[in-house]
Amino acid sequence: MKISAPRGTFDILPEEALRWRWLEAAIRRVFDYYGYQEIRTPVFEHTELFQRGIGETTDIVEKEMYTFNDKGGRSLTLRPEGTAPVVRSYVEHKLYSKGGITKLFYMGPMFRQERPQAGRFRQFHQFGVELLGTESPLTDAEVITVAVELYKELGLTDLEVLVNSIGCPACRKKYQEDLFSRLSSLQELCESCLRRLEKNPMRILDCKNPRCRELTKDVPAVTDYLCPACRDHLEKTLSFLDKAGIDYRLEPRLVRGFDYYTRTVFEVINAGLGAQNAVCGGGRYDHLVEEIGGPPMPGVGFASGMERLILTLEQQGKFAGFSSAPQVAFAVLDETLAADGFALATRLRREGLTVEACLEVKSLKAQMRAAGKLQAKFVVILGEDEWKDGQVSVRRMADGEQWRVDREEVCRFIKDLLDRDSSGREQERGSFS
Ligand code: HAM
Repeated sequence: MKISAPRGTFDILPEEALRWRWLEAAIRRVFDYYGYQEIRTPVFEHTELFQRGIGETTDIVEKEMYTFNDKGGRSLTLRPEGTAPVVRSYVEHKLYSKGGITKLFYMGPMFRQERPQAGRFRQFHQFGVELLGTESPLTDAEVITVAVELYKELGLTDLEVLVNSIGCPACRKKYQEDLFSRLSSLQELCESCLRRLEKNPMRILDCKNPRCRELTKDVPAVTDYLCPACRDHLEKTLSFLDKAGIDYRLEPRLVRGFDYYTRTVFEVINAGLGAQNAVCGGGRYDHLVEEIGGPPMPGVGFASGMERLILTLEQQGKFAGFSSAPQVAFAVLDETLAADGFALATRLRREGLTVEACLEVKSLKAQMRAAGKLQAKFVVILGEDEWKDGQVSVRRMADGEQWRVDREEVCRFIKDLLDRDSSGREQERGSFS
């Protein structure tokens, strides 16, 4: 029996991996501009971290975690998200002791046992930032700006930024009570909403069920309940975004599914993706560090789903012309020249060309066909007579033009031709800068 990848997971095959590498390089480049430093945490953590950090009554902790006991009987969980682990590491290594603001970024696989569908997987990849050490609304504006500018750098258009504030625990308490008294008589709410009503009524606003949305369409907005300090924080965040030219829409129904959020929450949406349309989600979490055993220390961050971003990039035609084709392929016509061909290919690689060496000596026709399949730009051909004269042939595959070139000169010769044809080269190799 064949064994396939588990449901909700997938392999990233070589052609697809090229896109991922391009995306990863762009993400790192933008985080460098903004001064975020990379942090890598384990793929599994003590289960308690997520129970305490994300919240016992959230969908993720209630239903979606991959939790197991190791041989020592400890309960461990594959990380469903990156914020709680990064904050755990920040506390464990006392990164706050340096004082000031700490700006971290991460990238890697996350695990949630959700029902797989387009854009929703059980193993998926996120990159994200966490900025710790201040309540300043400038930092809320900064993390939203990092996400938006990154998407611009990727060339994406038609994304919408939704922003809201869910206040602090004090203003939210009154809101939750009022929501409960308004909604508690509504038996037609879906099963999850009836459960949410008891535990966290605000989460009902997040329900995608059309009936629940209809029933809750006239409930007051959480922003109507903000205390003066939370209102001021929201207004300042929005004014900083306005000033920086970041477009957004204030969305009073946006509440997000984690208990750690306070004040600002936001998402970036690609409406073209269907039901799973959020490419990014984030917000402020002013009590999470304390919850995980650290000092009182506010934070704000976001995470973006890489699969959904790749889908968006594909939809918007950003991968047209992507290629892993080598610049040079080798064709060796005689077994006795195999070692010389291999040595010359190695030299060309040392000089910075991408080269496919001849690894099987076959007929010229077969080797040219193979080079064509690889979409090599040039083929260096080693024939016995030419080699004796210190020469090789260089064939340009686009038009079949062929030159005899001194073998000491072959690298310079090909580089000159590539420079003249630099537009094509930019597209292929420049994308990995
Ligand atoms: P989240 O909204 O759960 O937030 O996830 C962020 C993004 O990860 C989503 O917008 C989506 O693009 C992607 N994503 C989530 N689940 C899946 C899935 N099953 N399949 C594919 N993509 C998925 C968080 O994880 C928070 N930790 C974000 C954060 C960081 N808040 C503050 N700092």
